[in-house]
Amino acid sequence: MTPIKNCIVNEDTTKNPIWLMRQAGRYLPEFREIRKENQDFIKLCLNSNLASEITLQPIKRFGFDGAVIFSDILMLPYGLGQKVEFKKDFGPKLGEIDLENIESLDEINFTKKVHKVYEAISKTSIDSIMNNKDMIGFVGAPWTILVYMINKSSPKKGLSDKFYKDKILISRLLVIIEKFLKLHIKNQVEAGAKVIQIFDSWAGLLEDKLSEYIYNPTFNIVEYVKKLGVPVICFPRGIKDYKNFCQIVKPDAVNIDYGVDPKKIVKEIKIPVQGGLDPQILLTNKEKLKQEVEKYLNIFKDHPYIFNLGHGILPETKIEMVEDLIKIVRNFK
Ligand code: CP3
Repeated sequence: MTPIKNCIVNEDTTKNPIWLMRQAGRYLPEFREIRKENQDFIKLCLNSNLASEITLQPIKRFGFDGAVIFSDILMLPYGLGQKVEFKKDFGPKLGEIDLENIESLDEINFTKKVHKVYEAISKTSIDSIMNNKDMIGFVGAPWTILVYMINKSSPKKGLSDKFYKDKILISRLLVIIEKFLKLHIKNQVEAGAKVIQIFDSWAGLLEDKLSEYIYNPTFNIVEYVKKLGVPVICFPRGIKDYKNFCQIVKPDAVNIDYGVDPKKIVKEIKIPVQGGLDPQILLTNKEKLKQEVEKYLNIFKDHPYIFNLGHGILPETKIEMVEDLIKIVRNFK
C-alpha cells in the first residue's frame, strides 16, 4: 500500500513529523512516579488506565506527532504462556519453553491474556489529544522474538552455537511466532493503531541466514499489515544492507540505526525514512544537538523523513534537551 495522507508515514517532503522510540519511559519524571508504585512491569503494561496515561505523557508534555503504546515486544511470549520478568539492572528474563503447551494455544486464549494492551490502545486513541496524531502499535520481528524466547535474556554478548542446536524447536517456534504476531497486530489495529512498527532489535546479530530468519519471516508480517490497510515501519537494527532489506521486505517506511550513513541511505532508498540520530547526542549540549539534528534534516530535506532516533531514548536524557530537539525540528526550513 502507498503511504497515506495525514499520517506520519506519507510522501510529503515539506514536513518532518516527530516521535521518539521509548518516548513513554524512564527519562520522564511523571513515568518514574507511576513506575515507583508499580514494580511489576508486565502488570503495568496490562493496566489499561495506567498504560494509556503513560502513552499520553510525552504527547501532553511535548506534542509529538505519534503516540506509541506503552507495552513491550515481550508481551508476545508472555501471551504464549512463557514466563517474562524484568529484573532491575538486568533487563528481561524469560522462563522455559513448553512447546506442547504453546502449540495447543488458541487465538482466543492468547487474546484474553493480553487484551488489556488492546484496551489501552482503544482508550488512548479516543482521547481528544490524539485528534491529529497517530496511534502507533508495534511488535518485535520474528527473529528478535525467537532470540528472546530461546536465549531467555538480551543476547548482549551475542549468540552461542547452542542457540541453533535445536533446529526443530526453531522451525516450530517460527511458525507459532508468525501466527501470533499476526493476531497481535490485527488486535492492535482493530483497537485503533494507525501505524505498526516492527522492531528487529537483534537483526545485527546475524551474519548469514538472513533470508531464513529475517527477510522471509518479516516479509510475511509486512504483507499481512499492508492487507490490514495500515502503513508498516521496519527497524532492522544493526543490519548491514538496508537497501537490500527494503527491496526484499518492502515496508512502507524504514527506521535507520545510528550506525548507518544517512547520505548513503538517502541515495539508495526510495521509501520514507525514519530516525537515525544517535540517542547519546541528547546527552551532550544544545549546540551539538542542533548541529546533529540539522545534519539529518538537511540530508533528508527532499526525502519523506520522520524524525526519530537511531535507537530508544536513554533514561538519563534531560527534558530540556527533548524540548530543544522538538523546537529544532519544528523550526527547520
Ligand atoms: O515508548 C515506547 O517506545 C513504548 C514502549 C516500548 C517499551 N519497549 C517499553 C519499555 C517499546 C516500543 C519497547 C520495545 C522493546 N522492548 C524492544 C525493541 C526496541 C529496542 O529497545 O531495541 C525490546 C528489545 C524490548 C525488550 C525490553 N523491554 C528490554 C530489553 C527492556 C529492558 C531495557 C532497559 O533499558 O532496562 C525492556 C523494558 C522496558 N520496555 C522499559 C520500557 C519503558 C523499561 C522498564 C522500566 O524499567 O521502567
